[in-house]
Amino acid sequence: MTAPDASVAPFTHIGDYRVLRKLGEGATSEVFLCRDEFRARDVAVKRVRDAAVRDPVDGRYYSRFFAAEAALVGRLQHPHVVQIFDASDKPEEQYLVMEYVPGSTLRNYCRADQLLPLELIVELGFKCAMALDYVFRQGLIHRDIKPANLLTVEVNGHVTDVKVSDFGSVLNLGADVTQVHRVGSLTYMSPEQLDGGQLNAQSDMYALGAVLYHLITGHPPVEADSQAAMIQRILHAPVVPPSERRHSMHPAVDEVIMRALNKRPEHRYESWEEFANALASLVTNRHVPRGNMQVVLDSERFNLLRKLDFFRNFDDVELWEVVHQARWQRFPVGHKLMKRGERGRDFHIIAQGAIEVYRDGKKVETLKAGMLVGEMAYLAPSKDTRLRTADVVAIEPITTISFTPETLGQLSLACRGRFNEAFIGVLVRRLHAAHEALSHPQRIL
Ligand SMILES: Nc1ncnc2c1ncn2[C@@H]1O[C@H](COP(=O)(O)OP(=O)(O)O)[C@@H](O)[C@H]1O
Ligand SMILES: [Mg+2]
Repeated sequence: MTAPDASVAPFTHIGDYRVLRKLGEGATSEVFLCRDEFRARDVAVKRVRDAAVRDPVDGRYYSRFFAAEAALVGRLQHPHVVQIFDASDKPEEQYLVMEYVPGSTLRNYCRADQLLPLELIVELGFKCAMALDYVFRQGLIHRDIKPANLLTVEVNGHVTDVKVSDFGSVLNLGADVTQVHRVGSLTYMSPEQLDGGQLNAQSDMYALGAVLYHLITGHPPVEADSQAAMIQRILHAPVVPPSERRHSMHPAVDEVIMRALNKRPEHRYESWEEFANALASLVTNRHVPRGNMQVVLDSERFNLLRKLDFFRNFDDVELWEVVHQARWQRFPVGHKLMKRGERGRDFHIIAQGAIEVYRDGKKVETLKAGMLVGEMAYLAPSKDTRLRTADVVAIEPITTISFTPETLGQLSLACRGRFNEAFIGVLVRRLHAAHEALSHPQRIL
């Protein structure tokens, strides 16, 4: 075992977790990449700095920030929110154990020479908005949305995903203990937060709007030389529209961002969902070109699933699971999705387009978006791989979402439960149709 660099971490372990390297730091804490040997996984451990806790004036506040975050252990389960696995609040060693996010933070992409493509910024904004919708529905306001608290997942140096983190300032609307607020960077703070006014989801919306503004233009929406001037400007000064700082941008982008940055919370978006949809529609309406992004964005897949009858009872977290774990494919008209006599164990949900089902050369059904095909292989498994009993052909260009029994098995229990509910719904409808057909045989002719 190699000892960690002492200049980085003057200890080899935090609790049972072996320290590998330092990942970052904030005002009150340091975060280390650690090895959880017991569960054989890497984790991020956030440790309150000794000096911070011992501070005679502010020490007890730091403990409260820590406690606020530690209270969320196991509570936040969303693909775009950093999970908190565990916490230790021994006075001599307070730390939180979190999911490790391999990447950096959005802070790296605020500099004018490091800006991300616009379509990616919009996509990341959509994911953050949906994540904060989830957080808000848990009765929580983050209060410290800023680039350094939005962690990026990076693959080969490219940002592929984002996760909201650092709940040290969280306001729990359901708790009745006094909740202190640490004074962080003012840059992304809403006017009402500066004013000590009542906070709502709209305060985090302002902050996310300010982060997106910074990512788009390379400048925060408000800048000033002193804190006092900064506060005055946040409260009163108009913001320069982003298009004046990043050129050849459609005015629709200004509209979406500036609405979140309105000085009056009641003039911002009414809900996170509305903000998220406004961001997503920039791409669907082609106000933001797709650039080099994958053909179908995660946000588009998410929004597509939400509209399908099959997924009616799935919540957002479960829908994101489907976005990430399903196999998404597109096929042209005439494509044979299944052939009679062929072996196959996967099933498909038609996300777009339409197909026809043929038995013995006779058309028996037309299936449209939201419908299920091939599920018998999953529902009635036998030792032998099942042979398909019908031919299935695309009569419009189709997008399919496919699972095998194995990939379905990788979903969370809750998500699999939703699939089973949806399957039962489909089967009951088919049974009903079969009864109808039997009692009115002439109708099927
Ligand atoms: N789960 C994580 N995975 C990877 N890096 C992290 C993780 N959590 C935090 N970091 C890094 O540590 C920094 C500080 O963490 P943060 O929770 O924001 O602490 P503070 O409350 O002191 O601001 C972050 O800006 C980021 O660089
Ligand atoms: Mg932080």
